[in-house]
Amino acid sequence: MKYTDVKTIAQKWGVNERRVRLLCKEGRIDGLLKDGKSYKIPVDAEKPDDLRKKENRDASIFSSPKAIKKEIDFATYRKQFPDKNGYFGPYGGAYVDDQMKKIFDEIYSGYLTICKSAKFIDELRRMRRDFQGRPTPIYHCERLSNYLGKVQIYLKREDLNHTGSHKLNHCMGEALLAKYLGKKKLIAETGAGSHGTAVATAAAYFGLECDIYMGVVDMAKQAPNVARMRVLGTRVIPVSQGQGTLKDAVDAALAAYMKESKNAFYAMGSVVGPHPFPLMVRDFQEIIGREAREQFLEKTGELPDMITACVGGGCNSIGMFEAFLNDPVRLVGVEPMGRGKNVGDNAATMTFGKDGVIHGFKTKVLMDENGNPSPVYSVASGLDYPGVGPEHAFLHDLGRVEYQYATDKEAVEAFFLISRLEGIIPALESCHALAFAIKCARQMHSGSILVNLSGRGDKDLEYVIEHYPEYMNK
Ligand SMILES: Cc1ncc(COP(=O)(O)O)c(C=O)c1O
Repeated sequence: MKYTDVKTIAQKWGVNERRVRLLCKEGRIDGLLKDGKSYKIPVDAEKPDDLRKKENRDASIFSSPKAIKKEIDFATYRKQFPDKNGYFGPYGGAYVDDQMKKIFDEIYSGYLTICKSAKFIDELRRMRRDFQGRPTPIYHCERLSNYLGKVQIYLKREDLNHTGSHKLNHCMGEALLAKYLGKKKLIAETGAGSHGTAVATAAAYFGLECDIYMGVVDMAKQAPNVARMRVLGTRVIPVSQGQGTLKDAVDAALAAYMKESKNAFYAMGSVVGPHPFPLMVRDFQEIIGREAREQFLEKTGELPDMITACVGGGCNSIGMFEAFLNDPVRLVGVEPMGRGKNVGDNAATMTFGKDGVIHGFKTKVLMDENGNPSPVYSVASGLDYPGVGPEHAFLHDLGRVEYQYATDKEAVEAFFLISRLEGIIPALESCHALAFAIKCARQMHSGSILVNLSGRGDKDLEYVIEHYPEYMNK
């Protein structure tokens, strides 16, 4: 590629040099290289749109949410949904055989009794404080906010939760429940390995045996997490069927669980699966939003204008959103648009999915014309799932939560921007929520955005360095 300097490009585009430097700083010029203090710009670089002009704003990112269905009272929503059969409106339920149904019904009735007991609640609180390090803080990104302009960006630091992601919130809850139910083993699937690491940690804490099923593609991509699980004493079982990613790992783990359900507990990785998992995982993750609401009010005296969270299965986002459903806050779930909009290039279930059944529950599913789950892809292993938690499908239809997307490229750019401006290396999953917040902040005139930083990016370092070397020299 041939490069030129700021002065030449400024002349070519008919703008002043200051404007070109600003575009360079904002990372809005493709193929840009930084050489010490100066910039090298590809000679044929395209002039980015001037976002200060109204006609160039991306209207879709400000699309006003659908009218909220009047019959829903969000003050009491949590008590209404799911219903006793696990339905959030038309979504959820348990589409499983009689044997499985019986197992899950037993877990549900056990959970309903145990979760109300003072002893269980006390133990959960103590573990969260002393073992997990909760509450996690809210952090004001001053340098990023100044860099972007007029909007203040805040992060809910789930990356500081023990094991480096929000996943431990529900894993400790599930393992504690397993202990109360007299189970001796945890079985689970994992995508990025964050959930697997969290389950392995909870198993070690409670002295339980643990088997984690993981797709071979994800094992190669997330090698540091595979090592962590093994060090923690967990058996990591490679899954090579199908695409060798998260969906296949869920299939294999559920099949294994059916043979061992008497002694084992299935530690579901997100707000997915048959009833009662979406309910239980939501209950354990709600701590994120409850803490965040209180902390944000204390810090700023008001609520954020907007909250973003990435959506794979959907547990960090549900955990964050639930506390704000009855507030005048724009809630945005951000899905992976991967390499593009073609089938197999993304995992944007809310954008392209249709109503269907996957892994024993009804939700939006990315599927082919025969009704089978489509292949999915994202740079973030924890987001490449062809379904989504049933509550998300419901909140989408109600118009209370908006679902947007970010591409691989936008996520990787956010990865480097936050690392370099704030000294925080975010998980690639979380980078989707960051990327969308950054996109909005660039076009807003004022306000505040709270981003749920669901995890830290140490697990992604090797992959990013190998696949995105061009960013290392910028
Ligand atoms: C750091 C991180 N964030 C987000 C996710 C996505 O999961 P969920 O949508 O259930 O929060 C994952 C999944 O592995 C993850 O590792």
